[in-house]
Amino acid sequence: MKNRLSRIIKKDGRTLMLAVDHGYFMGPTTGLEKFDETVNPLIPYADALMLTRGALRNYVDPSNDIPIILRVSGGTSIIGKELLHEGIIVSIEDAIRLNASAIAFSIMVGADFERDTILGLTQYIDDAERYGIPVLAVTAVGREMKRDAKYISLASRMAAELGAHMVKTYYVEGFEKVVESCPVPIVIAGGKKIPEQDALKMAYDAIQAGAAGVDMGRNIFQSSNPVAMIKAVRAIVHEGATPKEAFDIFKEESKG
Ligand code: 5RP
Repeated sequence: MKNRLSRIIKKDGRTLMLAVDHGYFMGPTTGLEKFDETVNPLIPYADALMLTRGALRNYVDPSNDIPIILRVSGGTSIIGKELLHEGIIVSIEDAIRLNASAIAFSIMVGADFERDTILGLTQYIDDAERYGIPVLAVTAVGREMKRDAKYISLASRMAAELGAHMVKTYYVEGFEKVVESCPVPIVIAGGKKIPEQDALKMAYDAIQAGAAGVDMGRNIFQSSNPVAMIKAVRAIVHEGATPKEAFDIFKEESKG
């Protein structure tokens, strides 16, 4: 377990996970239509790759040694009625076969079907613990839920108490409180695409508040220059860059 975690969270206690799992509920997401063309150039700058088994099988060269965070929850789509009423979509045996360094499972705290998603998570944690595989709990937020520090703290702490080894959640005002009350490393999702400058500021603020890093997708691969953007995010996560320094890196790298 510690060995797998150390492949993802680096010696500085930080991590830059590249989230490209969107196809499991969004299909050919903008920027990922030709998955390998977008993602392959980004891999050298990411500490881990979060994706589905289908994307791993079809688009990623197996000789690539980047740690894999395998999405194992799903079952609903963006056009369905119960978005994120997710269940188990990959067996632990297949996760092992695919050499996953960690697995990712979404829970829906506060929604009608929270119980199903939470029991799915705990069942998977039991399976994963048996083989020393860490679990990243993704605290998904429904449209009707208020994204504030109180809610995000509740969902993150619950995920940790239920046995998750890492938590992925959304950055909110007062994020220090979320981090303080969560005993496992927290990474933030990027969320919908926003201007590069704003996304870099959000990553910076999250790190300042104590986050272990980011698990960012659309704000990297939908950027006008994804490679420049991941380099800029990396500077914030691992090199202590300020948002301005990181944005300068983005601009400079974009020129090339
Ligand atoms: C949904 C997810 C996404 O599939 C994805 O990983 C989110 O990344 P981003 O918001 O940065 O595009 O975890 O809950």
